Amino acid sequence: MKEPVIRIEELGKSYQTSAGEFPALKSVNLSITSGEFVAIMGPSGSGKSTFMNILGCLDKPSTGRYFLNGSSIAELGKDELALLRNRTIGFVFQGFNLLPRMSIAENVALPLIYCGLEHEERRNRARELLSKVGLASHAESMPNKISGGQQQRVAIARALVNRPRLILADEPTGNLDSKTGQEIMSLFDELNHEGITIILVTHEEDIARHAKRQVRFLDGRIISDELTRETMP
Ligand SMILES: Nc1ncnc2c1ncn2[C@@H]1O[C@H](COP(=O)(O)OP(=O)(O)O)[C@@H](O)[C@H]1O
Ligand SMILES: [Mg+2]
Repeated sequence: MKEPVIRIEELGKSYQTSAGEFPALKSVNLSITSGEFVAIMGPSGSGKSTFMNILGCLDKPSTGRYFLNGSSIAELGKDELALLRNRTIGFVFQGFNLLPRMSIAENVALPLIYCGLEHEERRNRARELLSKVGLASHAESMPNKISGGQQQRVAIARALVNRPRLILADEPTGNLDSKTGQEIMSLFDELNHEGITIILVTHEEDIARHAKRQVRFLDGRIISDELTRETMP
């Protein structure tokens, strides 16, 4: 059988707080295979972002195991982990996190600085991705000159620039009006159609409908894991 992109076993995460240890995730088990489109749902405080940060190797679990593309994360050194993360995962956040003093094309090309490509090639790659998200004509603009929906498109182009096979998006439409949110979701639909695995946090049903599978968290545990109604046979 094919190794899942993500395999999580009995994963727990506790934070140290002044009131003692707080368990934000408790014995979570989940496997996600290549090409899936998963919505992570649940109320505020249920552990969604904690979970996404661990999936993205931005934070470590307290207990349990995490395999990314078959590699046990706990056994990788810092550099190996950074390499695996940069090659495998593209991140999209709620706040678009663009650098204000750089042009849109420079923002998109930023992740390429660490992979040794020539200036010209970085530029071409950035333009290619900006065309893909429908913003080729804005390449030289500054981020504050475009709308929120356009800024999120730039952030998605930046997430794609290293050609990752997995996109992690934490409430990517949370700062957008519903029409713009749906436009961003059409872009995720298209990327998934091209074979990119997508894991997206949302608490909006209209957004989660785009996913093929919905995983719900409550108080740090998975309480349901179902196919989205529209994708059922
Ligand atoms: N760095 C932290 N230190 C202490 N507690 C935290 C920290 N980050 C998150 N928490 C707590 O863990 C729980 C889950 O948070 P989070 O993963 O952000 O939930 P969600 O994204 O579902 O809203 C919340 O109760 C939150 O207050
Ligand atoms: Mg969150």
